[in-house]
Amino acid sequence: MDKFELIKSRHSVRVYQDRPIEEDHKAALEKRVEDLNQKEGVHFRLVWEEPNLFKKKAPSYGQFKNVKNYLIVAGDKDIDPMTLGYWGENFVLYAQSLGVNSCWVGMARFFNQDLVSEKDQKLFAIITLGYGVHPGNFRSSKTFNQVVRGKEPYPHWFIQGVEASLLAPTAMNQQKFIIHLKEDGQVDFENKMGIFARLDLGIVKYHFDLVTEDRGGQKK
Ligand SMILES: Cc1cc2nc3c(=O)[nH]c(=O)nc-3n(C[C@H](O)[C@H](O)[C@H](O)COP(=O)(O)O)c2cc1C
Repeated sequence: MDKFELIKSRHSVRVYQDRPIEEDHKAALEKRVEDLNQKEGVHFRLVWEEPNLFKKKAPSYGQFKNVKNYLIVAGDKDIDPMTLGYWGENFVLYAQSLGVNSCWVGMARFFNQDLVSEKDQKLFAIITLGYGVHPGNFRSSKTFNQVVRGKEPYPHWFIQGVEASLLAPTAMNQQKFIIHLKEDGQVDFENKMGIFARLDLGIVKYHFDLVTEDRGGQKK
């Protein structure tokens, strides 16, 4: 699937079918987590067929159903949450490409630190996984001009990158980010104040980078 189509097909899905994740999907997702842990210095862990987390005190503001599979998004205590957002979203879009739906759950970090036992690490979020009863919905979004700084006219690759960024999930759909195209062609990502805004920024940057990999033929 085209990268932009993949990004457009992703929505937060909170209600899942009551069926296990297929073995080949599990194997592919485990492999992705292993690679990310090894190469990117994150500490992700998949949990399969565990229905209890969402049965006890709800670790979220959304209404979830049939959550039995999830990714633990953990990292070193002093890591920039942007790194976890970036690689977590790499995982989310890979899952989406397999037909596995997901939802970031930041609130989980306030109730479930016991999911991480290593002393030097902590839980930043979890990502629920499953086959959605429904693929999810489009939601409202800030406009291009609300999130961009720089001098017009903007090049096509930059416009594409910002459009992909506006489709990125952010906590409570807050979209508290600014993407700045500087005069030298470099792009700066900045977050405003907000809960999980730094984690969000990594997610947003992953979307931007994915569709601007070759900057429309020009090398970065
Ligand atoms: C860092 C982060 C934390 C989130 N935490 C929660 C949460 O605790 N509960 C929940 O129901 N949704 C949570 N979400 C999902 C957002 O509400 C959702 O991404 C946003 O409303 C945009 O919708 P979309 O993902 O369908 O594009 C979170 C998303 C992100 C990126």
